[in-house]
Amino acid sequence: MIRVLFVCLGNICRSPMAEAVFNSLVEKNGLAGLIDSDSAGTSDYHIGEPPDSRTMDVVQKYHLNLDHQGRQFTTHDFHKFNYIMAMDQSNLSNIKRLLPSQASDDTIFLMRDFDDKAGAKNVPDPYWSEADGFEEVYQILLRSCQNFIDYLKKNHTDLART
Ligand code: 4NP
Repeated sequence: MIRVLFVCLGNICRSPMAEAVFNSLVEKNGLAGLIDSDSAGTSDYHIGEPPDSRTMDVVQKYHLNLDHQGRQFTTHDFHKFNYIMAMDQSNLSNIKRLLPSQASDDTIFLMRDFDDKAGAKNVPDPYWSEADGFEEVYQILLRSCQNFIDYLKKNHTDLART
């Protein structure tokens, strides 16, 4: 099983949406049961809370599944997950600050490293925006997650055969 963790600041907008989009694409790519995902926030602002209602609007609009409670990223996650995907550069530096000094950061990425249309490096924080900000995040995640799955297929030959 390959385990992927999506990380943002609050764990109520971008990273739970990433988890829902990714899980749906894993299934569409015939990889259910082979890749698993979860999400977390670098902050403690929304621990135990459900995803933002505007994230859930997108989840419903695109017929995704999401059952998640906000949680904070911890150093245990470096051991539990094969890949850590940060939504923006601030999340990435907060994650890397927690990395033990001798540990490799080879499998910690920015989500938009996989966005072939990216002009910007960050998945924009939609928290202070309207619904259109959440739609934009969805479109970014859809492209990035599919490209990330293609990358996983290339790097894990057992996935490529399915
Ligand atoms: P997220 O969005 O990091 O995509 O979950 C945010 C959610 C909450 C806050 C900031 C960003 N906040 O400041 O409470």
